[in-house]
Amino acid sequence: MAEQKIILSETKDGILYLTISREPKLNALNFNTLEELKNIFNEVNDNKSIRGVIITGAGEKAFVAGADINEISELNELNARKFAEFGQEVFEIVESCHKPVIAVVNGYALGGGCELAIACHMRIATTNAKFGQPEVNLGIIPGYGGTQRLTHLIGRTKATEILMTGDMLDVNEAQALGLLNHVEPNKEAAIAKAEEILKKIMSKAPLSIGMIVDCVNAVYASDENGYQIEANSFARCVKSEDYREGTKAFLEKRKPNFKGE
Ligand code: COA
Repeated sequence: MAEQKIILSETKDGILYLTISREPKLNALNFNTLEELKNIFNEVNDNKSIRGVIITGAGEKAFVAGADINEISELNELNARKFAEFGQEVFEIVESCHKPVIAVVNGYALGGGCELAIACHMRIATTNAKFGQPEVNLGIIPGYGGTQRLTHLIGRTKATEILMTGDMLDVNEAQALGLLNHVEPNKEAAIAKAEEILKKIMSKAPLSIGMIVDCVNAVYASDENGYQIEANSFARCVKSEDYREGTKAFLEKRKPNFKGE
């Protein structure tokens, strides 16, 4: 991968580990961080050696405490739209990644941090994690897709309350709302859980995993027919070598050897 400045990246055993590292600013997302994230994810789909991604924040206190309020404080109406559209674009690239992306949420996931976590395919939180969309305290609203994704994810009733009050949710509340896949006592255990899930997914046919991302995302796209996308994706899988290998291996009573082709 290209050298990065704010996001530390390391690939090990097929997993790309990304750490958002602005610890003194609680890993707040400035423009450069978003741009790095975009560049990284643009490479991930084409890189066959990466089979899954874990995103976390540096340190124990925060995953990401939001978009950078220093940058937000200098917006005007014209560049504010671009600011939001750029964040939306980057998080959509994350969400549509054909490799599974897991957020390990270690501490505050506020504003853009909560939006990033919910753009990931799964979330594993540590017990000290806190989620919230406090933009209303700053006289703005979420601009990186939060009003949409949060509502899709947990429903209108609670999403509206969270968006309007700016209240933080602790991990038990977030878990009860269906925001989380798992809760672990600390970051080390959360990363171990994410690795366990990714390793399981990595033993499956890679094309199938990418197709599942497309089909699940289609549920939330008002201009797409998810059933049609499912049928097309199903047909696309059947064109692959891995389909032949998977069905043959079952009939031969052995484990499949998938190649992502
Ligand atoms: N943007 C820029 N800087 C941020 C930030 C953000 N979103 N969140 C935290 N920081 C900075 C603080 O300004 C502080 O910097 P300083 O040491 O140079 O003064 C540093 O990170 C530590 O934060 P601090 O507020 O001192 O920590 P705390 O433990 O008292 O409070 C929070 C933690 C998360 C509750 C608090 O930082 C906060 O409310 N952050 C903003 C959250 C937010 O509104 N996010 C949405 C933005 S759209």
